[in-house]
Amino acid sequence: MKITVVGTGYVGLVTGTCFAETGNNVTCVDIDANKVKKLSSGQITIYEPGLEKLFERNQKEGRLHFTTDLAEGIKDARIIFLALPTPPGEDGSADLSYILGVADQLGKLLTDYKVIVDKSTVPVGTADKVHAAIAKHGVTDFDVVSNPEFLREGVAVEDFMKPDRVVIGTTSERAQKIMNELYAPFVRQGNPILFMDEKSAELTKYAANSFLATKITFMNEIAILCEKLGADVDMVRRGIGSDDRIGKRFLFPGIGYGGSCFPKDVQALVKSSEEVNYNFRILNAVTDVNEKQKLFLLPKIEAYFSNNLKGKHFALWGLAFKPNTDDIREAPALYIIDALVAAGATVTVFDPEAMENVKRVIGDKVKYADHQYECLQGANALIIATEWSVFRTPDFDAITGTLQHKVIFDGRNLFDVKRMQELGFHYESVGRQA
Ligand code: UGA
Repeated sequence: MKITVVGTGYVGLVTGTCFAETGNNVTCVDIDANKVKKLSSGQITIYEPGLEKLFERNQKEGRLHFTTDLAEGIKDARIIFLALPTPPGEDGSADLSYILGVADQLGKLLTDYKVIVDKSTVPVGTADKVHAAIAKHGVTDFDVVSNPEFLREGVAVEDFMKPDRVVIGTTSERAQKIMNELYAPFVRQGNPILFMDEKSAELTKYAANSFLATKITFMNEIAILCEKLGADVDMVRRGIGSDDRIGKRFLFPGIGYGGSCFPKDVQALVKSSEEVNYNFRILNAVTDVNEKQKLFLLPKIEAYFSNNLKGKHFALWGLAFKPNTDDIREAPALYIIDALVAAGATVTVFDPEAMENVKRVIGDKVKYADHQYECLQGANALIIATEWSVFRTPDFDAITGTLQHKVIFDGRNLFDVKRMQELGFHYESVGRQA
């Protein structure tokens, strides 16, 4: 099938590449000429494990093309995916100008039946708006479908190739048939393609992300209680996670969720609720708790250093908002750095992938180490903000030999508390007794 993907950001590039992988002929369109030039010459523009191999192979085999020309890009296409940015506006609502701008252009270009698919996370009612933006040019032979993505950064290729479910929002039988054909190779193991109306599909995406953000935040508050009441959150997590109705996943407490999705989507759902005069109280609380959670370690650090961080030096492991990505949007590490520097401390950081992005954003506010142990040189304590695998079983002798004092503040509960005590560390984490 011939497919067009408009927008070569994170979602667009993964979507285009993975559809090419099942034999479709994919053209990706982007207004950024530089990006298109890079991609056309075989250079991938995002970091995502496993993607590069698929990208290279499909491009070499002629199934993956890039252009800045929308008219050329949609020629002969049966399906056009819109994978465009929907940044939060000042008030938290999603800005639809990119999507509606392209819809308007499509209205001028469409000459035969096409399925236009909203892949970006968009508020309920957007499919109707896209439909109207195209139809206003007098076009009638098209359908607009909502097909939200459920990709996690770091495992996006796996999530795309083997989805838990595919959600398709359209009541048009013609569009349903085409979408069913496109996704059939991805659900061979029997996972469902769920057909529903456009609005339910749009809300499904926000509901899923907001629910997960709530689940994490609930555990973060349980962790706070554990510390105060003398319980251990690891035990409580296991105790409740074994109940199928709760489930084991997404119960890991830490220093808050970040990234480009949860914070933005929770805010957008709150905003959508306000627009229909509903106060989504739980989600307001989730945002509020999560903001505070990013600085959860700070009072512990301050208490250890007798409320005086001036002149103290910290090593910080992990900058990305989670492992296996270079994405630092809403990353707790950046909030911790800000707070430490504001208190007069200095910080040296290390991250396996996100260093360049951090340099671009905060420049010489911190020092950058090439290696995780070099980062510890002369530091009064180590702070861990992201659970990269390379941090999970470190060489504790190397840590002891390099840190000034054996002090670790761990925002991701990487180590066993007892073991750390045996090794002679002052070790503080989240929701466990120090
Ligand atoms: C999230 C969703 O998981 C995807 O299904 C969705 O498609 C995506 O948003 C999106 O809307 O595009 P992502 O933001 O890549 O994916 O990352 P997650 O792996 O879901 O992690 C989100 C945050 O939650 C991270 O900051 C992570 O550290 C935190 N988290 C996760 C916890 O604090 N505890 C947990 O137990 C799990």
